[in-house]
Amino acid sequence: MQKGELLYKGKAKSVYKTDDPDQYIMLYRNDTSAFDGEKVAQLDRKGLVNNHFNAFIMDKLAANGVATHFVKLLSDTESLVKRMEMIPVECVVRNLSAGSIVRRLGVPEGLDLNPPTFEFFLKNDALHDPMINDFHIISFKWASADEIQQMKTLTFKVNDILKDLFAKAGMLLVDYKLEFGRYHGKVMLGDEFSPDGCRLWDAKTREKLDKDRFRQNLGNVIESYEVVAQRLGIALPK
Ligand code: TMP
Repeated sequence: MQKGELLYKGKAKSVYKTDDPDQYIMLYRNDTSAFDGEKVAQLDRKGLVNNHFNAFIMDKLAANGVATHFVKLLSDTESLVKRMEMIPVECVVRNLSAGSIVRRLGVPEGLDLNPPTFEFFLKNDALHDPMINDFHIISFKWASADEIQQMKTLTFKVNDILKDLFAKAGMLLVDYKLEFGRYHGKVMLGDEFSPDGCRLWDAKTREKLDKDRFRQNLGNVIESYEVVAQRLGIALPK
């Protein structure tokens, strides 16, 4: 697999072309950002940890019937992925209240949300990822009604699989964000699943083990990501 030109540089990952027009290389960098890029830092080992973490989760999801763009690990910080046409919306499921929903709705943190709630956000840092609804997505042709339904169904299916996976490892999956794309017209999971894009709390102590440690200056950011990986049985190179 030949690595080609840089196609896109996001806040934490870079995407490169390959000699196969149907596949890209995703490079996980140590760059860490929060609040839509307002707070940034370099965190040692973050690229490696998130790349391996994502590979483990994507394999787990695929084994449970969720089609994803992930093909295989290429190195500690690179993965081969399918070339998708990304849908510019973020799908968020919340099992417990935390983060923006606490601020927006004035509810306490840590409420059990039963059933879990679902929100769409527009992927647009300059606008601070505003919340949108199904009608916006259809009116502005970001996705079709059928694709919206598929994104919701898949996002909840991921919840069933991952809530259980994290619970068995002593953690609460508080919330998470997924992004989808089209691969030859089929809706598939893209982007990444790592502690950068979800909230994970220790089930007993409710200690935060995710990117809120960075957002809230709690320290031990990557150390906590490594604790999560270790509890899931993900082998990380030293
Ligand atoms: P929020 O509480 O800030 O709305 O975020 C909900 C979850 O989605 C949380 O786990 C963080 C994740 N998320 C991202 O990773 N990137 C984003 O741009 C947004 C809006 C949320």
